[in-house]
Amino acid sequence: MAPETSYNGKTEVTGVIGDPVAHTKSPQLQNRIFSMMDENIVYVPFHVAPENLEKAVNGLKGLEVRGFNVTVPHKDKIIGLLDDISEKAKTIGAVNTVKNENGRLVGYNTDAEGFTTSLRNESCRDVENENIVIIGAGGSARAIAAQMAIEGAKSICIINRTESKAAEIADIIGKDLSYKINWFQTEDPLAKEIFRKADIIINTTSAGLSPNTDVSPLTDGYGFWPHQTVFDIIYDPPKTAFLKKAEDAGCDIYNGIGMLFWQGLLSNELWMGRKINKDVAARLHKSFIEDMAK
Ligand code: ATR
Repeated sequence: MAPETSYNGKTEVTGVIGDPVAHTKSPQLQNRIFSMMDENIVYVPFHVAPENLEKAVNGLKGLEVRGFNVTVPHKDKIIGLLDDISEKAKTIGAVNTVKNENGRLVGYNTDAEGFTTSLRNESCRDVENENIVIIGAGGSARAIAAQMAIEGAKSICIINRTESKAAEIADIIGKDLSYKINWFQTEDPLAKEIFRKADIIINTTSAGLSPNTDVSPLTDGYGFWPHQTVFDIIYDPPKTAFLKKAEDAGCDIYNGIGMLFWQGLLSNELWMGRKINKDVAARLHKSFIEDMAK
């Protein structure tokens, strides 16, 4: 749907709230989906400073928007401002998608499933029979660990610089999902052994994020093996020092672009209450990757 000719009195609104928000690639992705599906909806970025979050949420409710994405730094703070949140978002402790359900704002989290969808689609590995190691214990680690537990991973181990944060995630997932997660401090020799035996390894730390591209979360004694599939949820730079090391060892490597794409597609499906078929998703995926390379 070409905006200048097709937006009209019936056009509905979706968007993203964040601070900063100018860097977001979501409008390109979401507007392309609406266009491909021939839907009369627009997706716009809204800059919302932390002190304006409550006003913004009430405003979006008053404007009867169909839904919106939530990005940094609002993903956890928004929870108390919504009418309801999904069980999964509660376990993850973060909302990245809000849907207006007959005037009630309901919070969901598609980041987590965005990651496992990326894993299944891009690496063609599943979750069920795999031993998973997650490096880091922030919000992204918690989301990915919860989703892996829900999808029945064979084992999950969190390795983090600060042990207590890893223990906290294991505790929450143990209580909410009755799934036992192991955790270790990075320097524990057992952590290095479990790392060696893992099938899938995911870096969720910010180590290596641009502009600090030479940093890696791995310390001495960590090594990859060729049978391992290795993810970094960072996509800027496209290949972190962590991924380069894995590639040199012969592993299959993937960055965070897939997660970014799939979480957006899942949010869109949630707002619209319809699925996007595989062929359309593949075309959207291709054009998103091309956009990201620009
Ligand atoms: P997010 O919510 O995006 O996951 P976060 O909550 O800031 O981000 O979490 C960042 C994670 O990266 C933390 O687990 C952090 O380790 P600590 O728990 O010890 O703080 C980890 N991290 C950040 N920089 C790191 C580095 N240089 N080496 C190892 N771990 C690092």
